[in-house]
Amino acid sequence: MSPRTEPKAVEKLTRAEAEAELARLAEAIAHHDRLYYQQDAPEISDADYDALRQRNAAIEARFPELVREDSPSLRVGAAPAETFAKVKHLKPMLSLENAFDEADARDFAARVRRFLKLDADAALELTAEPKIDGLSANLLYEKGRFVRGATRGDGTVGEDITANLRTLKDIPQRLKGTGIPDLIEMRGEIYMQRQDFIAMNAERAAAGEPVFANPRNAAAGSVRQLDPSITASRPLRFFAYAWGEISQRPAPTHWEMLERFAEWGFKTNPQGKLCFSIDDALAVHAKIAETRAALPYDIDGVVYKVNRLDWQDRLGIVSRAPRWAIAHKFPAEQAVTKLNDIIIQVGRTGTLTPVAMLEPVTVGGVVVARATLHNEDEIQRKDVRIGDTVLVQRAGDVIPQILGVRIENRPKGAKPYVFPEHCPACGSTAIREPGEVARRCTGGLICPAQAVERLRHFASRDAFDIEGLGARHVEEFHRDGLIRTPADLFRLSARQEEIQEREGWGKQSVAKLLAAIESRRKIPLDRFIYALGIRQIGQATARLLARNYGSLAAFRQAMIEAQDPASPAYHELDSITGIGESMAADLVGFFAEPHNIAVLDDLAREVTVEDVAAPAGAASSPVAGKTVVFTGSLQTMTRHEAKARAEALGAKVAESVSRKTDYVVIGADAGSKAKKAAELGVMTMTEQDWLKLIGEGA
Ligand code: IVH
Repeated sequence: MSPRTEPKAVEKLTRAEAEAELARLAEAIAHHDRLYYQQDAPEISDADYDALRQRNAAIEARFPELVREDSPSLRVGAAPAETFAKVKHLKPMLSLENAFDEADARDFAARVRRFLKLDADAALELTAEPKIDGLSANLLYEKGRFVRGATRGDGTVGEDITANLRTLKDIPQRLKGTGIPDLIEMRGEIYMQRQDFIAMNAERAAAGEPVFANPRNAAAGSVRQLDPSITASRPLRFFAYAWGEISQRPAPTHWEMLERFAEWGFKTNPQGKLCFSIDDALAVHAKIAETRAALPYDIDGVVYKVNRLDWQDRLGIVSRAPRWAIAHKFPAEQAVTKLNDIIIQVGRTGTLTPVAMLEPVTVGGVVVARATLHNEDEIQRKDVRIGDTVLVQRAGDVIPQILGVRIENRPKGAKPYVFPEHCPACGSTAIREPGEVARRCTGGLICPAQAVERLRHFASRDAFDIEGLGARHVEEFHRDGLIRTPADLFRLSARQEEIQEREGWGKQSVAKLLAAIESRRKIPLDRFIYALGIRQIGQATARLLARNYGSLAAFRQAMIEAQDPASPAYHELDSITGIGESMAADLVGFFAEPHNIAVLDDLAREVTVEDVAAPAGAASSPVAGKTVVFTGSLQTMTRHEAKARAEALGAKVAESVSRKTDYVVIGADAGSKAKKAAELGVMTMTEQDWLKLIGEGA
């Protein structure tokens, strides 16, 4: 609710006011339900939403005769979003790393040069293309015919929207021209031009239909329609800019690939340029930034890509983003507004985050009503006080931030903000460890905020991916004691009847939910680890851990043994590339809590955790499963590249030598690691030996 319109107390409402208020609430709740359930784009917090529903219920309790036919209390949620069949992309759809300024962009070019070992005078050709603010799509063409189109989804599996995409003029049904591969996954952006968007919204408003917040939401909403004739009526367009699986490459560079795309009948972005250096690319960025407002569609940066495809291959991928591309974002947009309040949110890992509640303001086309204040020190440093006038910034998809305060507008008597020392959710003490910026609730699983957040995370798409179990269901089920820990989810079937009787549930929907839960009883180790919600352990790290330990039993055992920092288990954990000391501390800390182990063991009894299979192509590799350490400077490749290649063959690459090391590859000027290997009797070899071993040597 907008803080401007402080609602009148329910007991003071007249009958006429109550009637009007119920009408307003019915509309508002329906609106938020649609945003939440169908568009995955809530505008207000769960607490604010609950407040709307509570107010509605309170008014209805006072004036039962005024309960409307369409009262929100008579239903839960909106009709579920239309569902589409899932399709697995042949090659994952990657995301892009961001560069926020010139220095980041130059770092990118320098990184690429180092990785490729380019001489100082060697040219690095880059393409520079606008980053379209739409949604990406994957279009499969077989023998030049469009056979299937899908949304990006989680990057691995998307939704089949073929019928809808066939209605787009920019998506050719048949490719024409030369060099068409037998099979290609075309990738690009579906978007809507600003003018089209404005006209469409005007029509919708006139027809009493809800309007979209921005062209991107409009495009996303239009593409996810069950009835293709609706999609056909929407002004959607498509730019091609990349590809996934391909049977044979018709050209050796990205730029020539784009030329082919155009020849085959796709639209490619006319602002795209081939650049001969990072300086060139930065100049294109500056020019596009200047003319951005005049472009007919929204863009949020410029994407730089290494032009040579053989170099792209060598550079490869890190954590779902190619090393050969980067998105150089435009500076964020800003606005001035009033800070009405500061509330404290408790995150899944117990971190207390201060959130600024703002007088709603439009920043770059989106209404912003809250912004992060990061932490206690940030508030102090900026001396942000309730009632202040503040400068808000929004950059792309990033959470809006408060840049600073207009002291001259500060109301008299505004007091410095005092950060609470207790968790607002459970009352436990919130402590701040030395050297940490965050204050953290010590309540663990007894803290409802953490339990609910942990359960939500557990069921989320990248974790257990339990379809149909939305955040609000988790909250409800937790509140009513149906689920307290993750394992409880797998015992819900025993309470089928009880759930069926709940508001908003029926026999079918419960059966569907239980089936979705059942289908997740088998889970890969990395997802399992990620689902535990251990601080700092994201997807990429969970994958590293899964790959290193191979099975849940081995992982669990190692984490318990690693409690002792002098143990070999701790040494092994610490030597996994990508796991720093602070991550190791969080892992060990998690396993130091008996209640966490109890929760994990309880869960492990309910599910089957799959061991990690060696990476594709690695089964036959002589180094699969071996632990390798590279030391000294290598001649034919950089350390980074050596590591990437070894890992692709299923080897583990460690930073330090231990008894568990299988091979130490010694380059020029190797130091203590070579010595340590000799001491421990670990096998050492030259770079040439290594290349021979992996079948790449002369
Ligand atoms: S290339 C491997 N080029 O940005 C890289 N992406 O943050 C594949 N995007 O999911 C993407 N314009 O939706 C590329 N000219 C462009 C783009 C672009 C927009 C989007 C795309 C991608 C996201 C990554």
